[in-house]
Amino acid sequence: AQDGYKLWLQYKTVDDAKLRQHYSELNEAISLDTTSSTGKVIQKELKLAMQGMLSQKPQFSEENPTLLIRKVADLPKNLKPKQNLIDSINDEGFSIQTIPSKSTAKILITAKTDQGLLYGVFTYLKQLQLHKDLTELSITDSPKIKKRLLNHWDNLDRTIERGYAGFSIWDWHLLPNLIKQEYIDYARANASIGINGTVLTNVNASAYILQKNYLEKVKALADAFRPYGIQVYLTARFSAPIEIGGLETADPLNEEVRQWWKDKATEIYAEIPDFGGFLVKANSEGQPGPNNYNRSHVDGANMLAEAVAPHDGIVMWRAFVYSDEKPDDRAKQAYTEFVPFDGTFKDNVLVQVKNGAIDFQPREPFHPLFGAMPETPLMMEFQITQEYLGGMSHLVFLPKLFEETLQEDTFSQGKGSTVAKVVAGSLTDTQLTGIAGVSNIGNARNWTGHPFAQANWYGFGRLAWNPELKAKTIAQEWLGMTFSTDPAFVKPMTSLLLDSREAVVDYMTPLGLHHMMAEGHHQGPGPWVKDLGREDWTSVYYHKADSLGIGFDRTATGSDALSQYAPEIEKAYSNIETTPEKYLLWFHHVPWGYKLKNGKTLWYNLARHYQDGVLEVEKMINTWEQMKPYVDEIAYKKTEMLLSIQLEEAQWWRDSCLLYFQQFSKMELPDFIPKAP
Ligand code: GCU
Repeated sequence: AQDGYKLWLQYKTVDDAKLRQHYSELNEAISLDTTSSTGKVIQKELKLAMQGMLSQKPQFSEENPTLLIRKVADLPKNLKPKQNLIDSINDEGFSIQTIPSKSTAKILITAKTDQGLLYGVFTYLKQLQLHKDLTELSITDSPKIKKRLLNHWDNLDRTIERGYAGFSIWDWHLLPNLIKQEYIDYARANASIGINGTVLTNVNASAYILQKNYLEKVKALADAFRPYGIQVYLTARFSAPIEIGGLETADPLNEEVRQWWKDKATEIYAEIPDFGGFLVKANSEGQPGPNNYNRSHVDGANMLAEAVAPHDGIVMWRAFVYSDEKPDDRAKQAYTEFVPFDGTFKDNVLVQVKNGAIDFQPREPFHPLFGAMPETPLMMEFQITQEYLGGMSHLVFLPKLFEETLQEDTFSQGKGSTVAKVVAGSLTDTQLTGIAGVSNIGNARNWTGHPFAQANWYGFGRLAWNPELKAKTIAQEWLGMTFSTDPAFVKPMTSLLLDSREAVVDYMTPLGLHHMMAEGHHQGPGPWVKDLGREDWTSVYYHKADSLGIGFDRTATGSDALSQYAPEIEKAYSNIETTPEKYLLWFHHVPWGYKLKNGKTLWYNLARHYQDGVLEVEKMINTWEQMKPYVDEIAYKKTEMLLSIQLEEAQWWRDSCLLYFQQFSKMELPDFIPKAP
């Protein structure tokens, strides 16, 4: 067994004889231009897929092709799609059509570029993997976001910050000479879901990656990824001019420093002409930055932007900042620091904003920066790796979380101004758009450790391509491609995936609680965490439990973080009665005896959520037991064992949090909470 190495590109045998016949006929003879490197990888992929699904070796020839794969410009006149269809696709988009029988070709995949063809072919293969009928195929699609990136928090010693699937897949020691098959398969997997860029290095960056010996290695990776349409990016340590450049300062207004970055960019682009650009974490959690020289984020970002601009590079400047002084409310700080800079960044700068204002919690309201900087391209940063969501041992389907954030309404241009639209640039006609996912990939045999964590990589890619996609659609696709298309499997497992996110919220941080994880590693409960170097790293700072109640007052009587949102939201959430219960304790300090919508007390409801989370995991275990016939033995057993860990940990979260909070509420636990043995 492969133990999941092939991810969702399993290309399993199509067993149904009729369907197989149908597919075989359509893929008998393929016409494809293989003069480009992308054309060659398309050919390879088709061979692999047809071999796997149909045990068939397609003929690649111009003679009577059944499948025609060709750029629009190279199509014979009689096969050219209508102009409005051509106009509707962008440079990375494609169209797949079943064509009328007059022509020998039966299926046409067309696009404006080789990259578009590659995406079209992967989408076509997905139809076969999902056992779709191809007699009337008509799919026209283009990505809605331009820069669709993974962010690897990989260090040069191959450890991964917040990584739970082994060490980094980048084997710096053996690069540039050894190009591992993993790099190719990584690129294939990413291209199959439309990811078009990767930041290779950690945001807590080392300057060494910018040295010549490392750049040679980066070039080797860029060369390997290029045919798959994947650009390489690096993190830029702000103090690099000092650390590897021998300068005395990294002041962004210093001429020597500016020249150093320009020269560095020229050096990089000489090796990697399509290098994507830099991602920067500056003046955050101890990282160096322009503030060290009394300069602003804009000074810093624009200096780097100027260096890469002549080469068409971009700068992604992170907004994950919170000052080192005694905190106001940490949730407010990125907004406070960045909103005044709106419109002052150079054209090739994106500000990269986490989905929520604290830090990748199981649930956060959307970050108030979305919608608040209309003159600045804002990039979404999601975390695919499960730092606060159980590491590698919990099954949590994150597309559900991503979907929730993307569909929140910022009201920035009136009702319907969703976060998805802000990120896709459609509200402000922003051309430079981007989205990043902090990768969960390591050198584990199955890439992500937990077999189901693959779904989060897949789902991120799909939403990066189209942020309006439904989590449900993503779940069905992934399950069908990875395991089985049998409805007896897909249906119950889709429910399991979709419900798994609410389960983790319930047993970790219900009703708007947040940041209550154990200190440092963020795994397991730690509502008691206090007395750390910084108040805003403790749990007690966030839940504020006392004899009166629990929760963080972010209304005008408290930190007033709420005022950073649009008036529609501010108004609704200022009132405890009209605040969605899922955000209750995010915005309010609520008395233990306060009655929620169901007429029961807050204390009762807190216990109810903790218990529901545990029950949901039990339900997942029961469902999984029924799924044995549909999955290979290794994945079955591994998931089974991981689910039992998840159950134990869910119980641990429930018991320890309730016991801890009970010292403040001084109320009895409801009967449905199991008594301690
Ligand atoms: C979190 C995480 C850090 C990471 C930081 C960031 O705080 O715990 O490991 O460096 O986010 O996003 O920069």
